[in-house]
Amino acid sequence: MDRFLIQGGTPLEGAIAASGSKNSALPALAACLLTDQPVTLERVPQVRDLRTMLDLIRHIGAEVSTDNGRITIRARELPHPEAPYDLVKTMRASSLVLGPLAARCGSARVSLPGGCAIGARPINLHVTALERLGAEVRQEHGYIEACAPRGLRGGEVSFDRITVTGTEDVLMAAVLASGETVINNAAREPEVVDLARLLVSMGASIEGAGSSTIRVKGVSRLHGASHSIIPDRIEVGTFLIAGALTGGDLLITRCEPAHLRALIAKLHQAGVEVTEPTPDSLRVRAPGKLKSVDVTTEEHPGFATDLQAQFMALMTRAEGISFITETIFENRFMHAQELARMGANIRVEGRQAIVAGPSPLSGAQVIASDLRASASLVLAGLAAQGETIVDRVYHIDRGYEKIEAKLAGLGARIRRIS
Ligand code: EPZ
Repeated sequence: MDRFLIQGGTPLEGAIAASGSKNSALPALAACLLTDQPVTLERVPQVRDLRTMLDLIRHIGAEVSTDNGRITIRARELPHPEAPYDLVKTMRASSLVLGPLAARCGSARVSLPGGCAIGARPINLHVTALERLGAEVRQEHGYIEACAPRGLRGGEVSFDRITVTGTEDVLMAAVLASGETVINNAAREPEVVDLARLLVSMGASIEGAGSSTIRVKGVSRLHGASHSIIPDRIEVGTFLIAGALTGGDLLITRCEPAHLRALIAKLHQAGVEVTEPTPDSLRVRAPGKLKSVDVTTEEHPGFATDLQAQFMALMTRAEGISFITETIFENRFMHAQELARMGANIRVEGRQAIVAGPSPLSGAQVIASDLRASASLVLAGLAAQGETIVDRVYHIDRGYEKIEAKLAGLGARIRRIS
């Protein structure tokens, strides 16, 4: 199993370009199943979750051709409209094919995902939403089976709580349903907006993406399109925090600052200088001293849960007490214990972590438990004195493109070892 060997203590300096967004590319690939014509996606990051999604799309029966970050999918026929357990268990986002397959094929079979390191993460909201569009859904042998032999019909969907992939799933189903669909309490994440943009370029009629009410007028078929995936705001946020934590000076290009307002505001409060030299770049410079700030994760445009672990690593070096409250997932503090092994002073009480700083971090052997937790441990290792070994970096490979090459290019001393 691969590990990272990190020699900490070097400030990150220089420039890097953001990769395309993993969480935008995943639903975009699922959306390609909605038409029999070719859809080309540019700027798809080369990360493990995307490779898993491509395996799933091939399994379903679509043709896939790849050329670096450009991927063309042609879903002429879909002989196997299902997401088998072996793929779903390695990547929960496989459930994103449920809506498109039900809409295009009139039937879909998707394995239930089971538990996950960061929380229970059920897909009951996806199921209820599809039922609102007329699908008959049953659960058997660990699979969800959705059936709509005469096609889906538009309806009103009101989510009990905001769900990102749930919104994306039902949006993809609604574009081919007959009549109008209204999605209330929809997720407002930039990835939902990007998906809507792709669907519109394929011929869909969608209004309101990015707000909490999305209206869709179903069409009978969609056509091919070409689409460029948005920059990965979580990758960019991770690099902003890395720059601040290591006392560096970083320029991140090809990014979308508007997607990161909540993080930038918190960095400013902590005393970190973040500027926008151009409309698509961000520069971060670290102060001598960091101030502690409180953070509560929220749905977009609030502070992203996917940046909570990295921000906690930053707060270990800040002066004072920081209260970090996680409201999206019930078990997303696994990194706290590992950070404590590096010298951080963190107490977890239910959904709140209390970080008392500043702590001088020292290198240690730590274990990554999930994607963003592993990013926080890498960041802590970069800031720590001495050597850190981060175990189970397959988690980080799920979602960060060429992470060690990018960090090494900024002066980090990081090496992958087997
Ligand atoms: C998406 O997951 C992201 N994944 C996650 O990215 C991200 O952390 C999360 O949104 C929140 O922003 C992708 O986009 C592929 P949710 P998703 O449905 O859609 C509960 C990363 O590190 N819920 O918005 O699965 C759920 O348990 C990750 O890249 C239900 O109860 O998250 C959670 O508590 C991991 N029933 C809350 O809602 C459902 O049917 C929000 O989850 C669906 C969700």
